[in-house]
Amino acid sequence: MLSRIILLQLASTAVFISAQTPQTPGGCTTNSFTIPSWFIQELEYTPETRHVSFQILNRPANISTTASCQASDKGWNNCETKDDDFFAQVLIEGTIAQISVNHTWECTDRNLSTPLKFVAAGKNTLNLDNSNQIYTPEISPLLIRGSLYEPVQVTPVYAPGPIAHNKLGCLDSSARPSWTLSHIWYSDTIGDGLESVSSRVFNLFLVNDITGYEASCMHGSLSNDIGPTTLVCYGAEFQEPYPNRYTISTTASFDPETFLFSFSQTWYCDDQNPAKPVQITASASSTIPLQCNTKESTDYNEQPTVVKACQPEAEVLGMEGSITQTAALPPYAIEDPVPRADGCTISSILNPVWTFSHFSLASNAETTTVTFEVILATARRGFQYPIPVSVTIPHAGDAVYYPCEIGPDGENEAPLWPYECSVKYAADTKEIVLSAAWACHDLDDKNSINFKGISTTQVNSPLSCEKDAEGLDVCYTEDTAFTWRADIKNVTWSSAPKQA
Ligand SMILES: *[C@@H]1O[C@H](CO)[C@@H](O)[C@H](O)[C@H]1NC(C)=O
Ligand SMILES: *[C@@H]1O[C@H](CO)[C@@H](O)[C@H](O)[C@H]1NC(C)=O
Ligand SMILES: *[C@@H]1O[C@H](CO)[C@@H](O)[C@H](O)[C@H]1NC(C)=O
Ligand SMILES: *[C@@H]1O[C@H](CO)[C@@H](O)[C@H](O)[C@H]1NC(C)=O
Repeated sequence: MLSRIILLQLASTAVFISAQTPQTPGGCTTNSFTIPSWFIQELEYTPETRHVSFQILNRPANISTTASCQASDKGWNNCETKDDDFFAQVLIEGTIAQISVNHTWECTDRNLSTPLKFVAAGKNTLNLDNSNQIYTPEISPLLIRGSLYEPVQVTPVYAPGPIAHNKLGCLDSSARPSWTLSHIWYSDTIGDGLESVSSRVFNLFLVNDITGYEASCMHGSLSNDIGPTTLVCYGAEFQEPYPNRYTISTTASFDPETFLFSFSQTWYCDDQNPAKPVQITASASSTIPLQCNTKESTDYNEQPTVVKACQPEAEVLGMEGSITQTAALPPYAIEDPVPRADGCTISSILNPVWTFSHFSLASNAETTTVTFEVILATARRGFQYPIPVSVTIPHAGDAVYYPCEIGPDGENEAPLWPYECSVKYAADTKEIVLSAAWACHDLDDKNSINFKGISTTQVNSPLSCEKDAEGLDVCYTEDTAFTWRADIKNVTWSSAPKQA
């Protein structure tokens, strides 16, 4: 049962903020790894001459060129581009055009003297509007998402975007926003101020009727005696594996004296045109018809309290609001991944370094077991931790590689440590040579990249040794927290599936 309640609508004016430049922050290198893609704009097709012209803009590098093509043949036709680093083709059938782009570019934002070269390719389809002599696209710009081929083969994962952003009707229905409220509960517990504590609790569940977005709003101890108190509202947005650049947000307040509940919510729609996503903010305000019962009770300490408990008669209430602001977002911005600090892949390519710690030796008459912990040094470690690696080396052995035993990884999904390694160790100099293979799939979860490299390092910390209970000579770094970093050299990579 949905009972409509009387609304005190906020006086509102819709404000339209114009679009910003279609760029994502993050720098050429970061963006080239995360959004290798192009915009096709200003496309024109003349059926009579079968001539096509358009502009291609590389989004991460902000480089553009113009393309001119003679779509005379069935199938793909090569285009002429002003900039030779772009290679474009078109295919036109009736009012459907396909465009393919293959582009080589460089970024110098990380290292001016050593540019990093990228190669990416992709294609997409667009519908042409043929109401004029010259056909133009129905949606512009057109987004072409690419796969990287160099420096590594990666097809980046895009974000899902906030719930229902592309649901048919999202934008149209947003003109008359409404919500369904349920689980409304307000209680005011009055203690004696000595033994029993006073507290006020308010909570409700708010569902946006257009997007289906569910927010839970609450306050555990309404403090103000009079006037509205801010509530905390949250939904499922924190559980997304690929964080969205734009997230739905709700701010709300409740006045315990008048039962006035007010809120403002921001959501996103691009169902009509993904090149023109819209951010919508609406607010609503209404007195909730709460019915209260007051009774004497006891708290968890068995102390006497007076509890006023309030609920509306209806289980669910409807609430209508009005738009207070709409803003145009950059084209296709809603599903763009958030540029993040360097993770496994970018660190492995640009600045591969192992972080070592917890070095120890355990020797008996024949062998020494060398143990240390290791993790890839990266700015975005997530929930990864260093893993212990050990090798057992015969005293009589040569300075050759011995295979590692890699510690239990706790079934970790995206480890930052080797899946395979071997170690040379020189007892006299405490030099470790670690030859290791590791895998990254932080940018492309379907295709992991396998890296290999060699790190030569010395344990530059005094060891303290003792005989343990089993008669082994055991040595540790005196400073048990001693941690050091060593570059990984001769790094090579491939996108072949990793060996078991
Ligand atoms: C992209 O390039 C254009 C033209 O070269 C320039 O006007 C614009 O400011 C650049 N945008 C960014 C974000 O660098
Ligand atoms: C892109 O172009 C390069 C250089 O012309 C070529 O080697 C490569 O195979 C092309 N890649 C794709 C996916 O078309
Ligand atoms: C840039 O690259 C060169 C050559 O690889 C290297 O020697 C230099 O240290 C790098 N500079 C920075 C700031 O990383
Ligand atoms: C790295 O490669 C160079 C050139 O191939 C080689 O001379 C060097 O020994 C390699 N380094 C290691 C630690 O294997």
